[in-house]
Amino acid sequence: MTEKLIIFDTTLRDGEQSPGASMTKEEKLRIARQLERLRVDVIEAGFAASSDGDFDAVRAIASEVKDSVICSLARANERDISRAAEALRPASRFRIHTFIATSALHMEKKLRMSADQVYEQARRAVRQARQFTDDVEFSPEDASRSDMDFLCRVLEGVIDEGATTINVPDTVGYAVPEGYAALIRELRERIPNSHRAVFSVHCHDDLGLAVANSLTAVKSGGARQIECAINGLGERAGNTALEEVVMALKTRRDHFGLDVRVDTTQILATSQLVSEITGFAVQPNKAVVGANAFAHASGIHQDGVLKARDTYEIMRAEDVGWSANRIVLGKLSGRTAFRQRLHELGVTIDGDAQLNAAFMRFKALADQEATVSDNELVALARRTPSR
Ligand code: KIV
Ligand code: ZN
Repeated sequence: MTEKLIIFDTTLRDGEQSPGASMTKEEKLRIARQLERLRVDVIEAGFAASSDGDFDAVRAIASEVKDSVICSLARANERDISRAAEALRPASRFRIHTFIATSALHMEKKLRMSADQVYEQARRAVRQARQFTDDVEFSPEDASRSDMDFLCRVLEGVIDEGATTINVPDTVGYAVPEGYAALIRELRERIPNSHRAVFSVHCHDDLGLAVANSLTAVKSGGARQIECAINGLGERAGNTALEEVVMALKTRRDHFGLDVRVDTTQILATSQLVSEITGFAVQPNKAVVGANAFAHASGIHQDGVLKARDTYEIMRAEDVGWSANRIVLGKLSGRTAFRQRLHELGVTIDGDAQLNAAFMRFKALADQEATVSDNELVALARRTPSR
């Protein structure tokens, strides 16, 4: 049996921390229902203690969404953990995700706490969370800039208290793939009780490396949970994009050898819903969900794809929710795509000479316009003026 990789979606929590992406309870519920359809394993529904609105949203999602584990973030203190537990109570399965920073910089400058205090507080928080659920995740914030010996000490301590998932955040997006994978591997090798927890990755995209860092940590570090967000939404430059890691794992299963539960045909609908609700447009050349991700404009590529799709496509557009791939007619297009489109539009042209003449008219028009519409195409093929 192949090993499973857990997909933990944080669109509704870290994603909402994107400046300008705040969502109402109703909007969060709509996204959560769609994430359930997408079959993500865990939905981080929010940060229950952060506001009454977030508490209500987490509670509403926990009451309604039953097919995914519902999670709330909580700082490592009593009030946050109790609020998270209270909001999550209606869920059929829930997780409390508690965190505290472990880097010297954060402990000294932000928390103003000693390493020993952080160690004790982390253990206490996990111990408290375990009173509410046996599914407890712990994150040492700014892990990728934390001292290795201290990180090992804290993580061994929280696993001892019953943490079942250890998430290792690259909070500021500073890590590079080999280094981040080595960090996860070393933690798993050095911490004596590491086998009792699933190791998870949580990467930010400040250097555009979030997806690469996550996947390398899975492949070479042994991480078995990826935290990610739809359209890569998240604090600052965002989080690991769910659609990218999932499709990389599926398309290159030969390389990763891991299964994910996600129903990929729901990816596009989820991306479009998140974009509609947040008002964050998806760039056309965005992998998997961008309008051009399965569109072909160059004649050579169009010719190849029309003969055999796998000449220029490594995934099927339909597998991620598009109705089909797309041939875009423009100045780079060749005869094959031109003839094919006319055929699809029901226009028949008799003989090569007529086809050549129509094609020349098309090229002349395409030189002036970015794309040629179907109406224009039919008109020029029939030699009638277009509207
Ligand atoms: O980036 C981060 O460190 C986080 C933690 C709260 C997991 O989002
Ligand atoms: Zn984060």
